[in-house]
Amino acid sequence: MLIIENLTKIYDNGFMALDNISLEIPDGQFVAIIGLSGSGKSTLLRCINRLVQPTKGRIIWNGIDITAATDDELRQIRRRIGMVFQQFNLVRRSSVLTNVLAGRLGYINPVFSLLNYYPPQEKQRAMAALERVGISEKAYNRASALSGGQQQRVGIARTLMQNPEMMLADEPVASLDPATSHSVMKYLELLNREDGITILCSLHFLSLARAYSQRVIALKDGKLEFDGLPKDIDNDRFKQIYGEDAVEVEIH
Ligand SMILES: Nc1ncnc2c1ncn2[C@@H]1O[C@H](COP(=O)(O)OP(=O)(O)OP(=O)(O)O)[C@@H](O)[C@H]1O
Ligand SMILES: [Mg+2]
Repeated sequence: MLIIENLTKIYDNGFMALDNISLEIPDGQFVAIIGLSGSGKSTLLRCINRLVQPTKGRIIWNGIDITAATDDELRQIRRRIGMVFQQFNLVRRSSVLTNVLAGRLGYINPVFSLLNYYPPQEKQRAMAALERVGISEKAYNRASALSGGQQQRVGIARTLMQNPEMMLADEPVASLDPATSHSVMKYLELLNREDGITILCSLHFLSLARAYSQRVIALKDGKLEFDGLPKDIDNDRFKQIYGEDAVEVEIH
């Protein structure tokens, strides 16, 4: 269970990006976070693993107070939380396999990565992670030679090397076309279903949230505007979240 209590983030310039957010997210839930650009989606995700320091409030994960964690504790916590980014954040000139192996840093001796030597069992693990996202045949390609959707699947395989209990995905498909978006989202869905990984995923399109999430959280100007089932976002709700002029775009 992830418990977020009265979370507020005020950036150094005085801007309040999150305003008193409280949420309880049970283990194994697939949660979509939606809202206009600037509504606070990234700030919320980044507060959870403290890439951004919360100003007020508490974040408790399975009994551990993340907000009060020491640097050492934070390192342990971050091992169990995978991050997936919009821009994939791969080392483009390295092979797919090397990129996935980088997900094990923090677990294995850093000398291995300096020498670009990894024990066979680590390579097997990386290959298995690539198989999970249907891309093992690309293991020895350069990351830069892959399409955007394939690169994002490598990004997901890399986080699998941490054995994550939770994944924070910040607009993982925002750089991809609609068809490719589904090819990435379906793997997040698979990992949620088969491994029970809790997924918090910010998305631009409500249709994607409807297709993949069990619960939608909508932010507006840093406030919690909606928290409920995807099917309960009707036309009125949609306009409350996105504004009167917004039109819903379906993504097929
Ligand atoms: N380091 C910072 N310093 C000051 N203000 C910031 C900082 N980072 C973000 N903000 C502001 O906080 C608000 C929320 O930003 P955030 O990146 O969380 O929004 P978002 O919902 O992820 O937007 P997008 O959909 O564009 O990614 C924005 O108004 C942004 O300008
Ligand atoms: Mg963002």
